[in-house]
Amino acid sequence: MGKEGIVLGFVGSPNKEGRTNQLVTAALESAAGAGASTELVQMADHVVAACKDCLPWVCMTELKCTYNDDAFEYLSQKVLNCGALVLGTPVYWWDTSGIVKYFILKMFRVHARSAPLQGLPAFGISIAGGTGNGLVSGLRPVYHFFQMMQMRALEPLPATRFNFDGALKRAGELGSRIAAMSKQRDPFASLEERLLWYDHLPYLGLSRAAERRLLADLTAMADPSEGGATKLYGLAQADALAAASRNIEALTEITRVYEAGVKAFEAD
Ligand SMILES: Cc1cc2nc3c(=O)[nH]c(=O)nc-3n(C[C@H](O)[C@H](O)[C@H](O)COP(=O)(O)O)c2cc1C
Repeated sequence: MGKEGIVLGFVGSPNKEGRTNQLVTAALESAAGAGASTELVQMADHVVAACKDCLPWVCMTELKCTYNDDAFEYLSQKVLNCGALVLGTPVYWWDTSGIVKYFILKMFRVHARSAPLQGLPAFGISIAGGTGNGLVSGLRPVYHFFQMMQMRALEPLPATRFNFDGALKRAGELGSRIAAMSKQRDPFASLEERLLWYDHLPYLGLSRAAERRLLADLTAMADPSEGGATKLYGLAQADALAAASRNIEALTEITRVYEAGVKAFEAD
């Protein structure tokens, strides 16, 4: 099989058997079930060196890093020769891992201008396995990458340890959807169409406060007991406060719900 139909999964965690791996694997297993061939790559085995932002900008025309970066060559050739990409990152400091970030930055420098990935189907997964903070902000660099490379991104999957089972299921659903798209690229007709496509993807436009509320939602929903319902009531109170522009009070209430949710989750 040529590059069409190959769904490539990148695990952007140094922890090769961790949650990032589980989520990317779930997506690939479903993609395989839907008839795609799949390949999983551990980015930790190919850690890209920092881009030196060289001037003159030689790599743009050479299509190769001047510093002979074998890890970058390996990873970029994989992406250039796939039919669809699933990119999973652990959330570190509300951001992507360094492994993912360094790869993205060098991809911009070497390949963004020639745009060889136009219309490539892709989706990103973040896993915030600690506090859960950064579940959305950790995805933004990944979706900025997809957007700059002009890929056709599906909705993102923000996972935390509080919604992990649901996230695994969702990874599977997205995996089979992307398998169906992997035989043909679907480039954007214009820059405007691309910008609006990315503007309309869920999660990515959330404010910091809204991201925190989403996290509180996930922790409250992880508690199926009556306590969970009480927490959801707390979120309704927070919404009422926010509607009255009492934003600090609203966010404080959200934090209260979140902390109660984490406590219940950990006691379980
Ligand atoms: C340096 C570092 C920073 C982290 N920062 C965050 C964070 O901002 N938010 C969060 O929820 N978890 C954070 N974590 C926890 C990881 O997201 C969590 O361990 C996740 O499961 C890592 O993915 P893995 O299972 O593939 O290793 C951090 C972990 C490390 C090592």
